[in-house]
Amino acid sequence: MSRSAHPAGPRYADVLPEGHYSAPPADLNALDPKVWARTVGRDEHGVLTVGGIDVKQLAEEFGTPAYILDEADFRARARAWRTAFGSDADVFYAGKAFLSRAVVRWLHEEGLNLDVCSGGELATALSAGMPADRIAFHGNNKSPAEIERAVRAGVGRIVLDSFQEIVRVAHIAQSLGKRQRVQIRITVGVEAHTHEFIATAHEDQKFGIPLAGGQAAEAVRRALQLDGLEVIGIHSHIGSQIFDMSGFEVAAHRVVGLLREIRDEHGIELPEIDLGGGLGIAYTSDDDPREPHEIAKALTEIVTRECEAARLSTPRISVEPGRAIVGPTAFTLYEVGTVKPLEGLRTYVSVDGGMSDNIRTALYDAEYSVALASRSSDAEPMLCRVVGKHCESGDIVVRDAFLPGDLAPGDLIAVPATGAYCRSMASNYNHLLRPPVVAVDGGGARVIVRRETEEDLLRLDVG
Ligand code: LLP
Repeated sequence: MSRSAHPAGPRYADVLPEGHYSAPPADLNALDPKVWARTVGRDEHGVLTVGGIDVKQLAEEFGTPAYILDEADFRARARAWRTAFGSDADVFYAGKAFLSRAVVRWLHEEGLNLDVCSGGELATALSAGMPADRIAFHGNNKSPAEIERAVRAGVGRIVLDSFQEIVRVAHIAQSLGKRQRVQIRITVGVEAHTHEFIATAHEDQKFGIPLAGGQAAEAVRRALQLDGLEVIGIHSHIGSQIFDMSGFEVAAHRVVGLLREIRDEHGIELPEIDLGGGLGIAYTSDDDPREPHEIAKALTEIVTRECEAARLSTPRISVEPGRAIVGPTAFTLYEVGTVKPLEGLRTYVSVDGGMSDNIRTALYDAEYSVALASRSSDAEPMLCRVVGKHCESGDIVVRDAFLPGDLAPGDLIAVPATGAYCRSMASNYNHLLRPPVVAVDGGGARVIVRRETEEDLLRLDVG
């Protein structure tokens, strides 16, 4: 598509006082390494490149929209988590962030374990060769069929989420002549500083068994009596996109408190605690995430200190990062279809995807960054809203962003940090076809999840 001239959009200075966005960056072509995958850069023509391949080539070969994933970055982040926690702890990658068979193989090779939360995720993990004993099975309403499959497969742990599930898993395991290793998920009553929909340790929500009122202690009491279960530990996940470690500190304090109660009542020290995932990543330059080694050090110190105070031997710790591993490793590549300046407001930039490939902006008010990818530009910054092609005005990908004032149809733009919870939460709304995931590594690119086709859509429609 050729670049057509269009009237200049509003200048940021005209609208800035009313908005909640910050001023435009000094250089719109600059790529903040905090939000972009590690091998992303610009070539001598200003074209965005990843793993040595330019995005124009990727768009030509794989089409747009597409999630472009930097495999080397994924592996490096997985390894960094693994190394940071060392051999005294386990890192379970949270598959809900993004799961495919290639990802399972990378995790296996890098020595990570895997957390799954449905039969579909379990099937993906097993089909790609993840050893069952390195899989943890989560969920607040696992079906009996899912439980049976997990127990038969020999998953390393099932995380029990309710009183009913304690009995259900015990019966299924016993009927199969097995003793299933389980953790009990508790809610410690922490208000995580994050969006309500992704906070999970306050009491008024669906996950876990409350510590309050002795319910968690009662759950442990019941589980310990059941022959089909081997209770190996306590699990706590306080929420997602969290930067402040104080929530983990309170959670660890309370989990260790429960371990102490269990020791005092039953004379046993449970060998494991899992502190869940939830570590935040940078979606914009304003976010300051911590490095895995800092997180590992902080969590290990907290647990060790709490256990010393309770005179317990330190249990084996596990964590479940999802977003912190995959989130920063991918960006979504879109083609600009229309550029519509609205006088006195902002310029609406419509791309060839939208809320079907990234629901996070609509669902959580998530903030994203965006950059012109197919070229660099020295044009004046223009305040934009990047929107999709869905029949819905809430179909927003990036609420407030500055793009060069000469942006035009046919340009490619890239939205970074879309590796987590974008493809995995993608939908077919308006019968859009879900984009592919293209892994780039060492100068080569390959599809690891292919683009959906109209045949895929119609195959399900059997009416
Ligand atoms: N462990 C458990 C038990 C979880 O429930 C989750 C996320 C994780 C680990 C991984 O959390 P992460 O490290 O990825 O933050 N769709 C939302 C996030 C929902 C997270 C659900 N559970 C989003 O797009 O922000």
